[in-house]
Amino acid sequence: MSARILSGTVIRDQIYAELAQEIAELKSIGVRPGLAAVLVGDDPASKIYVRSKIAACEQLGLGNVHLTPPANTTTAELLAIVRELNSRDDVDGILVQLPLPPQIEAKKILEAVDPAKDVDGFHPINIGRLVEERPTMVACTPLGVMEILRRSKIPVEGADAVVIGRSNIVGKPMALLLMHADATVTVCHSKTRDLRKFTREADILIAAAGRPALVVPEDVRPGATVIDVGTTRITDPRQAEKIFAHNPERLEKFRKNGSAVVGDVHPDVARVAGALTPVPGGVGPLTIAMLMSNTVKAARLRRGQRTPEAVTSSR
Ligand code: GUN
Repeated sequence: MSARILSGTVIRDQIYAELAQEIAELKSIGVRPGLAAVLVGDDPASKIYVRSKIAACEQLGLGNVHLTPPANTTTAELLAIVRELNSRDDVDGILVQLPLPPQIEAKKILEAVDPAKDVDGFHPINIGRLVEERPTMVACTPLGVMEILRRSKIPVEGADAVVIGRSNIVGKPMALLLMHADATVTVCHSKTRDLRKFTREADILIAAAGRPALVVPEDVRPGATVIDVGTTRITDPRQAEKIFAHNPERLEKFRKNGSAVVGDVHPDVARVAGALTPVPGGVGPLTIAMLMSNTVKAARLRRGQRTPEAVTSSR
């Protein structure tokens, strides 16, 4: 058996087509939603992520502001940047790329973002609203996972879902969204004593631990849906040989490039899972799509407009 591969790029393209219509409607009434992305310092992975987010804005015709203060920026300086963006009428969404350099008090920064412009869903007010299942801005990656499940018609109601990882960005909001969709949710993490005991029971397994190839075929119930949120760049040839043991093409590519991006799920899991998201090309494209979606949503809400999901369902 071989898992059905749930392509994030295909689902992203569907979402972009829907957003393009919404954006055109807004344009006809003189509204151009705008996103501000703040990247402090020059972390190479963060640079790539932020560049992709800006490129998505340009592709969809959204306004965008890209600020790149230096790595030695202070908390006070970054607070001033955020406050300026809060006050700008052409900015509907504000994203401060994480992680921030160690001298910056990240919590203060995230709390300073206007909750109405918090397209990352990281503000404590928005997290509280999510806990209570009130309308809010929800973190993009878990939202993207729910879109993959919904659009791939994977049943969530009544399913046993296991989330590996308890981060504020993914694991915790993921568990809440699944709970709100009527799954029975278990959250596992680095101190879980017997991970396999839980993962083998899962109808839906979400791996968001940030540990390459953590989930191996023996961890997965045959036929389960496995969603791989991990993205780690590996450079160790021995690790690559283990992960790509049955994947000569990817091993060859690793040798050529000297690195590869891998998920938290070993590729051999495709032999037992019923459905699986690939890395790259699975959850990643959805994270950016949901950021675009949240930006459009923020633009509408700030102008007192109802959003389509208020009429239909799930965003
Ligand atoms: N760093 C890793 N993921 C994210 C994300 O979704 N948003 C922001 N702002 N930073 C991140």
